Amino acid sequence: MVEVYRDIFGNEIKVGDEFDPTSDVVLYNGDTLELLRQIPDSLAELVVTSPPYNIGKPYEKKISLNDYLQQQEKVIEEAIRITKPEGSICWQVGNYVENGRIIPLDILLFPIFDKYGLKLRNRIVWHFGHGLHARKRFSGRYEVILWFTKTDNYIFNLDAVRVPQKYPNKKYYKGPKKGLLSGHPLGKNPSDVWEIPNVKSNHPEKTIHPAQFPVELVERLILALTNKGGWVVDPFIGVGTTAIAALLHNRKAAGADIVKEYIDIAKERIKLLLEGKLKIRPMGKPIYTPTRNRDNDRESNTLFDLYVKEESHAESI
Ligand SMILES: C[S@@+](CC[C@H](N)C(=O)[O-])C[C@H]1O[C@@H](n2cnc3c(N)ncnc32)[C@H](O)[C@@H]1O
Repeated sequence: MVEVYRDIFGNEIKVGDEFDPTSDVVLYNGDTLELLRQIPDSLAELVVTSPPYNIGKPYEKKISLNDYLQQQEKVIEEAIRITKPEGSICWQVGNYVENGRIIPLDILLFPIFDKYGLKLRNRIVWHFGHGLHARKRFSGRYEVILWFTKTDNYIFNLDAVRVPQKYPNKKYYKGPKKGLLSGHPLGKNPSDVWEIPNVKSNHPEKTIHPAQFPVELVERLILALTNKGGWVVDPFIGVGTTAIAALLHNRKAAGADIVKEYIDIAKERIKLLLEGKLKIRPMGKPIYTPTRNRDNDRESNTLFDLYVKEESHAESI
């Protein structure tokens, strides 16, 4: 079935529950392989997802690591089939945790992509500020995005995702370019370390989903790795974050989730987006950084005390 929504400008947005190339968004409630098998070869400019991590979240049954990797391989095979030669695949993962020891999932998944000839372009570190407070190891504050391309001729729109330069007016001070701006006028490359707040309870995008993408994370990938009108597919779409980021930038989106409630929330979020009422943390909004109260660090008449004082002085100038 295809429902027709309208945005505040009166444009029609077709939202289907099975794959249909004339839809703008496809939200399939069921197993991801059932959706992926409906999608023709070489359709997607980007397949981006955060798969289940097999850590016992409410939506997943914990299985052996080998079974998990076999399941992931089937999805990855389909993802490769539906990706255009100039397209990309981004797999966002964290750690599998077993009796307090961590196993980084990207290390286990990389050989699967490699076996199928995909080319890793970046292993992006997504750094965020909130999470569980560990007691017997350092608290985990990053996950990764493995960005693969199918060929060497791939879409990469760097200008669309440049970020402000620290010193935008810096100029060459000698040589033939003396006096000209030394940085790119549109900003700098955002690098492979991305600091984007994760979706915890006080984040404006929070829904009931326990492991939601922030919209900004997917926006950057979509802007850099696809062109307007291109298809973005998320095999594990949850509450529809990938579809929201795609619609914001005039791309089409398809995704599946086995939990009907998540698909229903995804549809509600899309309706709010089209009405201009969805709360989204704006792309590039600066992150609040608390400053440390150094008074507690002081010890009297020690070398350390001297340096703490020096540092406080440096912060105040
Ligand atoms: C990490 S979450 C993805 C969240 C998503 N990025 C978002 O922003 O909402 C993984 C999702 O995969 C779904 N899932 C797990 N197994 C699935 C399967 N076999 N087919 C489709 N969806 C599945 C879960 O219900 C969960 O919502």
